[in-house]
Amino acid sequence: MWFLGMDIGTGGTRAVVVDENGRLISGAAAEHVPFRVDHPGWAEQDPEDWWRASKDAIVDALAAAPEPKQPIAALGLTGQMHGAVMLDENGAVLRPSLIWCDTRTQPECDWLTEKIGYEKLIELTCNPALPNFTLTKLLWVKTHQPEIFAKIHHVMCPKDYVRYRLTGEFAIDVQEASGTLLLDVTHRRWSADVAEAAGIPLEWLPKVYESPEICARISEEAAGLTGLAAGTPVVAGAGDQGAGAVGMGILQPGSVSATIGTSGVVFAATASPTKDPKGRLHTFCHAVPGLWHVMGVTQSAGLSFNWLRNTFFAGQSYDALTAAAEKIPAGSQGLEWAPYLLGERTPHLDPEVRAAFTGISTTHTSAHFTRAVLEGVAYSLQDTFTLFAELSIPVSGIRLGGGGARGPLWRRIQAGIYGHAVEILTAEEGGAFGCALMAGVGAGHWANLDEACAQAIEVAERIEPNPADLSAYEAGYAHWRKLYPALKTLR
Ligand code: XUL
Repeated sequence: MWFLGMDIGTGGTRAVVVDENGRLISGAAAEHVPFRVDHPGWAEQDPEDWWRASKDAIVDALAAAPEPKQPIAALGLTGQMHGAVMLDENGAVLRPSLIWCDTRTQPECDWLTEKIGYEKLIELTCNPALPNFTLTKLLWVKTHQPEIFAKIHHVMCPKDYVRYRLTGEFAIDVQEASGTLLLDVTHRRWSADVAEAAGIPLEWLPKVYESPEICARISEEAAGLTGLAAGTPVVAGAGDQGAGAVGMGILQPGSVSATIGTSGVVFAATASPTKDPKGRLHTFCHAVPGLWHVMGVTQSAGLSFNWLRNTFFAGQSYDALTAAAEKIPAGSQGLEWAPYLLGERTPHLDPEVRAAFTGISTTHTSAHFTRAVLEGVAYSLQDTFTLFAELSIPVSGIRLGGGGARGPLWRRIQAGIYGHAVEILTAEEGGAFGCALMAGVGAGHWANLDEACAQAIEVAERIEPNPADLSAYEAGYAHWRKLYPALKTLR
């Protein structure tokens, strides 16, 4: 019995086949047309392109699986969160989707906050109005393209559009729905209050399911196009952060991941919806039924290192740069990096602040700059851990993911700065893998996600913080925290 997981990302779509032991059997990816930026801050993609890439990725992943092939018992979907897909009464796409990184909607955020009230909105949805969130994108269309808004019959997120093309059903999971700003996150159902205040008819919204629940079946038409069997069950799945957390075994309260990709995300499972009255963390339903999660986002994490290399060390490998930086003492002898190349989400919610190196002296070499960047990114993720402490969110174990988990230096820096042992997994297969496990639960192969992860996920290494690093980084973090208030004044 095999399971299929699909991740409709921003750059491309990936499909993976996973066996009954939770082992990866095959995978395939198909690129998307890069998102269009018609004006600074805008980001749009064509939902038809996601569907094209999804069909290609499924066909290729099934073809790449070894013989004897087994039937796909169920399929799970994940993808880039927050995007707004709008369909007319015949199910036709009305306009390109405004995606997660489109930030044009600050005026709509301000309008909604004024209309509902800042505290009331957090009470209803657990989150403040941010331009990333789906509802604010619908409000932009309402104001600027009323002729399109008037034709809307269905609204959904990117992966849920692919589900519609695969099955003909409109469905969404609670984790993804949390990022629309239309969900009553506490009660895991649409918020009639927010929908009414915003002028969004509830009939436009897909039915809400828990992530491992079966919500649809592959249609005859999609079966003909993909090679999947008609009638194959499809589980609700989750947004990329929720599915990625399942893929890393971040299920029970206390378990936390720190993932450094282009951006950096610190994600914690919680037993109840923990609201930050200041809205600095996202508070969403977890893909695990009955649980919630919080997450903080550093906008330029891996991007900082990528930018440093491309700008100053073109042609040198990341490994060569980190090998040189390993020889520099913890704290980079006073050189610091504030990683605000694209502004910052957590905890500052400040899209305007910009990055800086500070404390440069004649003793600093190029290797100090590399080390300072790795440390500055980890300090920024530590800001989310500081918020967790402020809000009494427990942290019992930390798993590292993404590029920040790959080399020994960034792992050690993170252990030192978080002041906590960190775990590295034998393989980190991402969100597509996480929702293949959800499909296995939906199909009844595993009783629940805990059982699936216990079988599929293995810890390869546990790294304790080095005692000498701990004191250097405690002092280093206290000093680094002075950078943001200073940079904020440089406008
Ligand atoms: C989550 C977020 C990103 C997008 C794109 O809040 O904005 O993870 O889902 O990957």
